[in-house]
Amino acid sequence: IQKIGVLTSGGDSPGMNSAIRAVVRACAYYNIKCVGIRQGYEGLIHNQMSELGARSVKHIINKGGTFLQTARSEEFRTPEGRQKAFDHFKKNELDALIVIGGDGSFTGANVFHKEFNVPFIGIPGTIDNDIFGTDFTIGYDTALNTCIEAIDKIRDSATSHNRVFFVEVMGRDAGFIALSSGIASGATNILIPEEKDSLEELFESLQKSEQAGKNSSIIVVAEGEELGNVYDLAKATEKRFPEYDVRVTVLGHIQRGGNPTCMDRVLASRLGVAAVEGLLENKTNVMAGSRANKIVYTPIEEAIKKHNEIDKELIKVAKILAI
Ligand code: F6P
Repeated sequence: IQKIGVLTSGGDSPGMNSAIRAVVRACAYYNIKCVGIRQGYEGLIHNQMSELGARSVKHIINKGGTFLQTARSEEFRTPEGRQKAFDHFKKNELDALIVIGGDGSFTGANVFHKEFNVPFIGIPGTIDNDIFGTDFTIGYDTALNTCIEAIDKIRDSATSHNRVFFVEVMGRDAGFIALSSGIASGATNILIPEEKDSLEELFESLQKSEQAGKNSSIIVVAEGEELGNVYDLAKATEKRFPEYDVRVTVLGHIQRGGNPTCMDRVLASRLGVAAVEGLLENKTNVMAGSRANKIVYTPIEEAIKKHNEIDKELIKVAKILAI
């Protein structure tokens, strides 16, 4: 392997820059050329890429976002789009790809590999923490810290007014962000798609909280919660308890930005090096992850298809501490 292309794809996450830097510098260390591909697979399709040396990634380890930019490429889903991408892959004399992203990005890389035999390694970059084969994804820890900072502020206001707050956090299909940020911010209730919740249970629990002497409540809701979105839940609660003063906050994309935490920078640095070393050892179609603090390579199809189970112990802890 002489030349590796690196790209970030799908939703951005804090720490992607640290991961790009690690890939570029590991390539420099092992005397391999590294090419930065802009806007995910779009850059392959439209030939937007340039060589990156060790110095071209200076001062980015601490920056949120991704300086290569990212996209959810529709064109790459088509055979014509992938053909164009392969033509540019060849033209630029690339030997392999490193794809930093989530399961959608890995699925794209896997199809590309099956069609054109392009070697690749994935690095899990998403705030959702929903990728199998790694204990943590790059960006998750930063997003959690952003959430608890915001929810701490909401608590100040909630307690000052005796209010019930529904706070929506990201997690399209997974409740990892909601569960951990809910525990860390002392939420009275946490609603996640992995648990079957009912409105009656929620109402009972709010009543219990009131009887236990709580004057305000914070209910952290994952975006993918099946019981309803935060606005519907707030409306139903107001209807059931007209005496409650209910408010809604959607944290939204602030969760995707900001300087990565130390945890995310170290994880991104390790996985960037592991991805380059994996390619040098002729590994392909795998994702570099960290499990029990050890680097592991998981077959990409497992990383895409399997899911990390939500930790039942955390659910128990949240319930016990909400007494
Ligand atoms: O997958 C990461 C994520 O942040 C999800 O939690 C969220 O549902 C989604 O991306 C939103 O993505 P976008 O606004 O980029 O479409």
